[in-house]
Amino acid sequence: MSASFIAVANLKGGVGKSTTTLMLADGMAYYYGANVLVVDFDPQANSSQMMLSERGVQMAYDQGKGVIKLLDQFAQDRPPNLADLILPNAVSLVELRKDEDRDERRGWISTLPAHPSLRFTEMHVEERLYSSGMRPSQLATRLKNHLAEALEPVEGLYDLILIDTPPYLSPLARAALMLADFYVTPTLADPVSIWGTKQFSDWVSENVCTDIAMKNYVVVTRFKNTRYARSAEQELREIYLADRMFGPTIPESVQVLQAMDRADVDSYNTMRGKYGNLRNDVKRLSESFTNFLATNTGSRLPELIRS
Ligand SMILES: Nc1ncnc2c1ncn2[C@@H]1O[C@H](COP(=O)(O)OP(=O)(O)OP(=O)(O)O)[C@@H](O)[C@H]1O
Ligand SMILES: [Mg+2]
Repeated sequence: MSASFIAVANLKGGVGKSTTTLMLADGMAYYYGANVLVVDFDPQANSSQMMLSERGVQMAYDQGKGVIKLLDQFAQDRPPNLADLILPNAVSLVELRKDEDRDERRGWISTLPAHPSLRFTEMHVEERLYSSGMRPSQLATRLKNHLAEALEPVEGLYDLILIDTPPYLSPLARAALMLADFYVTPTLADPVSIWGTKQFSDWVSENVCTDIAMKNYVVVTRFKNTRYARSAEQELREIYLADRMFGPTIPESVQVLQAMDRADVDSYNTMRGKYGNLRNDVKRLSESFTNFLATNTGSRLPELIRS
């Protein structure tokens, strides 16, 4: 079976893309035993940092792992070799590493990490190819083909490939959007974020897929339960994105900051230690996302393996 390929994207910054990527990865692996590959296409490297710690991001880079090498292979017209660039079992959840009752074939979280210097690597590729007359959409298409070729030999290893993207249409982000089966769009419940979400949605339906409504899963994040936010959320659900499937609303919580802070490469958290009470939100998110995937792929709804 091949993996579902999911881009987590929004043109608006700071709306919880990286956090939602990680919550989905942890939740789907922990509660459903899904094997997940997290790909970080954002030069800010936030989801890489959250998964690996800052030191881990640097170590991965020093070992020649990650998206930069994939881009190097592209720039040098070499066939992609993704298997050597992925960090397998990069997860910080103790239960997914050491649980004695664990089914060894399930619940792996691996990553193709980013590094801050991805910004320059991507810029060099753009400068070189644009000066030779290539258009941005052509570069994105060529990158998409490179990515598809790179994933082909490994995608059978994963149930889900989640790609975290930056808050702008970089060549890599465009390639991810073109290749994706589905889009997860985190957004905040405020007018500015709603506008950014609408722009993103319009861009994708005009440039990538006309039926985005069928492929888009929206998550309202960092929700403060005020009258103002409730009315903005209602507007989003009933007017702006009435044709989309929504996940559960994720509350604003300091626990998120703690959950997304992996102290060091050799520090591991339990699900309870990492998420505290927020793990119920992560569980609800995974259940709802599983439902979204099953509905849209026509596949069987998987069973929870943990409560
Ligand atoms: N539910 C939440 N409660 C509190 N803080 C949160 C929550 N979700 C995210 N945050 C915090 O909000 C900030 C932005 O989140 P995140 O980095 O996930 O957004 P992003 O959309 O990936 O940003 P960017 O556009 O820069 O990539 C981070 O500091 C994150 O820890
Ligand atoms: Mg981010």
